Amino acid sequence: MSTVPLPIDPNRPSAARIYDALLGGNHNFAADRAVAARAAEILPEIPQIARANRDFLRRAVRYAAGRGIRQFLDLGSGIPTENNVHEVARAAAPGARVVYVDRDPSAVLYSRHVLGDDEQTAVIESDLRDPAAVLATSPARDLLDLNRPIGILMVAVLHFLPDGPDLDAALDGYLEAAAPGSLLAISHAIPSSDPEPTDRLAELYSRTGTPLVVRDADRVARLFDGWTLVEPGLVPGPQWRPDDGPVTGAERFLTLAGVGER
Ligand SMILES: C[S@@+](CC[C@H](N)C(=O)[O-])C[C@H]1O[C@@H](n2cnc3c(N)ncnc32)[C@H](O)[C@@H]1O
Repeated sequence: MSTVPLPIDPNRPSAARIYDALLGGNHNFAADRAVAARAAEILPEIPQIARANRDFLRRAVRYAAGRGIRQFLDLGSGIPTENNVHEVARAAAPGARVVYVDRDPSAVLYSRHVLGDDEQTAVIESDLRDPAAVLATSPARDLLDLNRPIGILMVAVLHFLPDGPDLDAALDGYLEAAAPGSLLAISHAIPSSDPEPTDRLAELYSRTGTPLVVRDADRVARLFDGWTLVEPGLVPGPQWRPDDGPVTGAERFLTLAGVGER
């Protein structure tokens, strides 16, 4: 009997599903949960870090909507959970349009299921490192007007991409495509002061399809080349425009986050 190859291999952990497991979601397999559990042994704060990252995403989208942005390109969008970009954006701006992009077929499948027949959103299965291809897809052409400001989201994704000309060209491509007034939100893993936990996490993820590349603050800042960081600049994720006043101890979240303006 022949078998039909499936795009999703439940035995191969994926960054999207490991993250879903860390967030307490149920769109993941045993192999993903095993990596999530091992990651939490290495770095017990990691589920909190994942939740804090989602909170940054929510605040960044709300900020962008408050600045009048009505269209979003969510690159490395992952598996839908609470406070997805279209929900947060529409709470502030009904009718906001969102194009979700992920290279993981399971993230794309779950996203399509959640979005159903919502005509103001679309999900593209693509590698974000090819901006020309992403922006040439018919959903992107139909939903996004690149003559108007756009919110580009690269949240908890660039630390899965190694340095090199591909990444530089991709960042340049999105910068060039973005109209003045556009915003770019990035959150990114940084090394712990004792390098051991992040080294061990990188080692763990190297056994998945998505090796982890932690970058120091200078290198994360350079991801914003061509953009001007809005206040408060590049800061530990929970300190970026917190809902409830100043946050202390956010360095332990090992994440830097910022929003740049074109
Ligand atoms: C940790 S999840 C983050 C999800 C979401 N952005 C968030 O912050 O909640 C990272 C996602 O990036 C996706 N990803 C990694 N490399 C990618 C690439 N080169 N192109 C598109 N998606 C990518 C993974 O498949 C995964 O779904």
